[in-house]
Amino acid sequence: MKVLVTGGTGYIGSHTVVELLNLGHDVVIVDNLYNSQLDVLDKILKISNSKDLKFYEADCKDYEKLDEIFKLEKFDSIIHFAGYKAVGESVLKPLMYYDNNLNTTITLARLAEKYQIKNFIFSSSATVYGEQQSPLNENLELKTTSNPYGETKKMSERILSDFSKNNKDMHITLLRYFNPIGAHESGLIGEKPQGTPNNLMPYVTQVAKGIREKLFVFGNDYDTVDGTGVRDYIHVVDLAKGHIAALLNAHKGLNFYNLGSGIGTSVLELIQTFEKVNEIKVPFEIVDRRPGDLATVYADASKAKKELRWETKKTLEDMVKDSWFFEKNL
Ligand code: NAD
Ligand code: UFG
Repeated sequence: MKVLVTGGTGYIGSHTVVELLNLGHDVVIVDNLYNSQLDVLDKILKISNSKDLKFYEADCKDYEKLDEIFKLEKFDSIIHFAGYKAVGESVLKPLMYYDNNLNTTITLARLAEKYQIKNFIFSSSATVYGEQQSPLNENLELKTTSNPYGETKKMSERILSDFSKNNKDMHITLLRYFNPIGAHESGLIGEKPQGTPNNLMPYVTQVAKGIREKLFVFGNDYDTVDGTGVRDYIHVVDLAKGHIAALLNAHKGLNFYNLGSGIGTSVLELIQTFEKVNEIKVPFEIVDRRPGDLATVYADASKAKKELRWETKKTLEDMVKDSWFFEKNL
């Protein structure tokens, strides 16, 4: 199968490209390198032991440029990762987020229609559920999210839902990720945030490495097992494999799935596991809650298991081990 992977040099995209290459698929990456680097390509090739990987540096909002690529490449499938993802930044720069995250999706959908591409997989997020009781299942009505980034995901889902009504033969799959962490076990690819990390795991690894003095734990007065926020962490390699399962088991029309482990882990539990597995201390201080954070978010992961025949395999121990191995190698 020939697969276009937009955002393929990014964190989740690069791991997904490895899995696609491992299975012998033809992969073409389109990325404008806004949040990734070209050297990822060599690393992907090294890990997957393949020689063939095409890359175009292009903006996925650029219809004319992408049209040329589509004409030339004749894709069977699209996995659309390209987008901005920093929640805090989206509050400060909402127009930039709406422009990039919506117009990339619209451009790709137009081209998918023009070239009659069979599969279209879109990176959505658990954030589309808004504030609701976990476990979150796909039948829940979507609620308002607390930031423009979350709204771009909800709007993109709506756009693709309307689009699917006029393209009934297409397989359109919306994947709602929970909290991806971890890295490829080779330590060659992983998440490399620019500046101060917003997310928990890269902050923890930077504290362990001595780049930052201590972790700030945002609140210990939530109604959870130990008062700290609970999330559903998923190893990025399991998440990448979820995309393969979605490609191979996709069916006609619009379908959406949670990709999570179904297990809730608190901030303190994650820190303790990190310290135990990696035998390294992570100094932390409890501070005020972060505005917009929810107490508990975890998936009901049964729909993907039943329909995509996919479930997570890796443990929290694997996640903290691989995250630390990647950070040490940087
Ligand atoms: P990432 O920033 O590592 O990767 C995204 C890639 O897209 C980057 O390489 C960037 O350069 C590229 N890109 C951005 N705008 C582009 C454009 N206009 N044209 C071409 N390339 C462009 O992010 P990630 O963590 O790999 O996330 C991938 C997708 O998954 C995003 O859509 C994100 O919103 C979504 N998602 C991520 C998480 C998470 O926690 N990482 C959770 C839920 C959903
Ligand atoms: N946390 C800290 N200290 C930090 C960073 C995070 O205590 O320095 C806590 C948060 O309060 C939360 C947990 O760690 O309880 C996880 O926080 P993250 O920022 O890692 O992840 P979020 O659940 O807030 O958000 C992530 C993605 C979003 C996505 C959302 C829902 O960043 O893009 O999951 O899936 F929308």
